[in-house]
Amino acid sequence: MKTHTLIMPLDMHLHLRDGVMLETVAPLSAYSLSGALVMPNLVPPVTSKEDVKAYKERIMAAVPNDYFEPYMTLFYKNYDKAFLEDVAEEILAVKLYPDGATTNSDGGVKDFDIEAMRETLEAMSDLGIPLCVHGETAGFVMDRESEFMSIYELLAKNFPDLKIIMEHITTKDAVEMLDKYDNLYATITVHHLLLTLDDVIGGMMMPHHFCKPIAKRPEDLDALLNVALEAHPKVMFGSDSAPHPQNKKEASHCAAGVFTAPIALQLLCEIFDQYDKLDNLQAFVSDNAQSIYGICPEFKEVTLVQKEFVVPEKYGNVVPMYAGSAIGWSIESVE
Ligand code: NCD
Ligand code: ZN
Repeated sequence: MKTHTLIMPLDMHLHLRDGVMLETVAPLSAYSLSGALVMPNLVPPVTSKEDVKAYKERIMAAVPNDYFEPYMTLFYKNYDKAFLEDVAEEILAVKLYPDGATTNSDGGVKDFDIEAMRETLEAMSDLGIPLCVHGETAGFVMDRESEFMSIYELLAKNFPDLKIIMEHITTKDAVEMLDKYDNLYATITVHHLLLTLDDVIGGMMMPHHFCKPIAKRPEDLDALLNVALEAHPKVMFGSDSAPHPQNKKEASHCAAGVFTAPIALQLLCEIFDQYDKLDNLQAFVSDNAQSIYGICPEFKEVTLVQKEFVVPEKYGNVVPMYAGSAIGWSIESVE
């Protein structure tokens, strides 16, 4: 049976939540990953040094071992330089949400007034703190990411030394933007390497495939696959695994978010193997992120095997993507 070993896999966009949900989901990521960039969209969001430290402690208390590094983030507001200097050593990045764009993004940026943001973004640039961005406008749902490209350009041009990460990109337009500015990078989820809008609403409606940004067109999927399978040095894996309780997904007003944490590495192996690109997976799931963020994660060696894995129906009260279905690869060992 074919096997494949990954060294120090990282997930550079992960929602761990809090409370009972944190206890359910954090061990699943900590098991197979060396670290993850933890999103700050709790209710209320993570906006102070105390919030960051306390949340990190709750995460560490929820994982069964020390071989997992939660890289912390702060929810973007127009912070002053003194504050950022003080918090810098506790965080790896600041995450910007447009107000109301997605789950728990209230209090995010209302309008992209570069002058109002200048002090914060220049301070981040000086301190070497990357800016992670949920890049969607309030426009028509299929166009929101493409419309946001002009805002990425504005940010990239005005703050040339600021590392800007286009989170969970879903379009050909975003892929093309990567090579236009030295300081633009991107994360890609595993579900956006598998789904188009057809898999969300083309047949029976699939709430467990519904997330922001919504999966797009076949040509967008192809562009994402190309850049991920080549492990373009400016792209990294970020699952955007976003757990919601079953009753919030299988409901009127279904919450946005796909829960992939327990199956992400297996699915990535399956995809990369299918295109005969397994050799590039290491860069996509770890090496690129290490260079972009300048991090040196805990050692972990994860061996996957091409053996069927039947995805559990639920983890706690969360239904994962592909619940009850068989996927082609399993985790064999973690050392
Ligand atoms: C995320 C969540 O549930 O927190 N939801 C999602 O659809 N991806 C937020 C986000 O990253 O947009
Ligand atoms: Zn997210």
